[in-house]
Amino acid sequence: MEKIRQFFAQKLNLGSASNESLKVLETVDFDGVMKYIRDGCCKSVVTMAGAGMSTSAGIPDFRSPGSGLYDNLGKYDLPRPEAVFDISFFEKNPQPFFDLARQLYPSELKPTICHRFIRLLEQKGLLLRHYTQNIDTLERAAGVSDERIVEAHGTFHTSHCTGCRQRYDQQWMKDQIFSEDVPKCESCGAVVKPDIVFFGENLPSRFFRLVQDDLKKCDLLIIFGTSLAVQPFASLVDRVPDTCPRLLVNKEKCGRPNLLMRMMGQSGLEFDSSSNYRDVAWLGTCDDGAVAMAAALGWQEELRRLQGEDGARPEEAA
Ligand code: APR
Repeated sequence: MEKIRQFFAQKLNLGSASNESLKVLETVDFDGVMKYIRDGCCKSVVTMAGAGMSTSAGIPDFRSPGSGLYDNLGKYDLPRPEAVFDISFFEKNPQPFFDLARQLYPSELKPTICHRFIRLLEQKGLLLRHYTQNIDTLERAAGVSDERIVEAHGTFHTSHCTGCRQRYDQQWMKDQIFSEDVPKCESCGAVVKPDIVFFGENLPSRFFRLVQDDLKKCDLLIIFGTSLAVQPFASLVDRVPDTCPRLLVNKEKCGRPNLLMRMMGQSGLEFDSSSNYRDVAWLGTCDDGAVAMAAALGWQEELRRLQGEDGARPEEAA
């Protein structure tokens, strides 16, 4: 009985052991995380991204009330909003997905300044891996190396025939999407589907191959623009070492533990807990967060140069 009590006490964080021994931040706030980076205390940063990182590129997120995608699918007569990304629904009726893809497809693939910040982390030799839920390929457009990117929910970068598995590139799919037809394979005539992960499909094997070791090595986790609503991606926050600081850059706090998560051994992000020794929330837009980090780290000029790389107007760093 005592063992069970200890298990739940530990999982529910009751009377938890002192976290002093695990604390690596001088102050558990944005400045403390920036000092931790400036002092060279981290070499293996893992970043996690959600749709909030791309909204300033003109791509709506999913769950923001009113503007989020799931609030704007009424005309597709779906059983529920997520059905548009459900593989069994797609196999029966792919049209709504492709209509939506046409609406969503960014007219130009212009990375945001936050995407450039990920590139800058790589240039600084600090980026171990960038895990993204986004399918927009903006990290690639920003110049982040393929090796450093894990597109956990797939990508528009490639597509495959659902019949004969023939591979098609991003431009072919884009042309098909804007032709208003459902893309059909040039060899066998079956529907061609972008390599994005639909509900009901497995995440790419690359995700499972890398996540184990990456998160064990991670000494700073930075989470950009996600509600952490979808598993298994959201569980990454619980798989870093107990000493690893976790910085959320988002319009709202999220990822906090509910009882079920605690019962499953997931503590989530504990900003508000009295025993919090490592979780920091920077509330605002991803772009402003990237600019604030660059300013705190003395990287403004380099970030400005990267943003201007493709001739785009360099954003005014704060
Ligand atoms: N800057 C910072 N945060 C932002 C911004 C922004 N410019 N815009 C939106 N946000 C925040 C929202 O407040 C929300 O907390 O980003 C989060 C976006 O959450 P979601 O819309 O749920 O998107 P995401 O977390 O990426 O969804 C995960 O759900 O449907 C699936 O496969 C889909 O990959 C997607 C997954």
